[in-house]
Amino acid sequence: MKEKKHKIVMVTAYDYAMARTVKETEADIILVGDSLGMVVLGYENTLQVTMDDMVYHTQAVRRGAPDRFIIADMPYMSYHLSTEDTKVNASRFITSAGANAVKLEGGSPARIDAIKAILECEIPVCGHIGLTPQSVHKLGGYKVQGKSQADYDRLYEEALQIEKAGAFMLVLEGIPETLGKAVTEALKIPTIGIGAGRFCDGQVLVFHDMLGWSEILPKFVKKYAETHTSMTKAINAFAKDVKDGSFPAQEHVYYPID
Ligand code: KIV
Repeated sequence: MKEKKHKIVMVTAYDYAMARTVKETEADIILVGDSLGMVVLGYENTLQVTMDDMVYHTQAVRRGAPDRFIIADMPYMSYHLSTEDTKVNASRFITSAGANAVKLEGGSPARIDAIKAILECEIPVCGHIGLTPQSVHKLGGYKVQGKSQADYDRLYEEALQIEKAGAFMLVLEGIPETLGKAVTEALKIPTIGIGAGRFCDGQVLVFHDMLGWSEILPKFVKKYAETHTSMTKAINAFAKDVKDGSFPAQEHVYYPID
């Protein structure tokens, strides 16, 4: 798709119902992101998300979208300890959850080793650099990365190293558009942007953000629906009908002989 200049569309999903919905769309890839910690489980950040959470949700997504390409996020501390631990965790997404690939955050030498170790298990790896949410404490908050020349150069170099290590795709999050463009032009593998400007090979958005189901939205999100508003309206309409006795009506009732 990169060679043909066809933009790649990735969207997150976290359960069977969301995956069924995405399956019926033009989206190319489903990401089971660890963003589920915030948008589904109500955590403050992604750091509490466990391997068991991710495997459980990836299994549900696979049931909802049997034929889609699914990338599963490796959660915090699932690829930071030992090579063996990293391999065992990555392989669970393939053997138990039905994912096609995994994604991990960062481009330091240790992360490059993790990517290589997972590739040794024949598991495709998607990289993710820039504003990497699992590093929220190190970064001092959810701040755009690559703004200083030194940080720009570091991220550019990390992108090159991630491609060299063998990753098949790279997510660029929360970086200036100029850096997103430069990395996209430098790499043969596709880049998928989220807050990385207009020139990436594809774009990803979080399901709840794009559909208007999230409370707070970063600048880079475009809202394509008002799901929260339409759901609360519907539930209030149900509440009103029950309270005033107009639901259930005759057509909702069973009779001994229908
Ligand atoms: O967890 C996630 O949903 C992600 C995307 C925002 C890229 O990593």
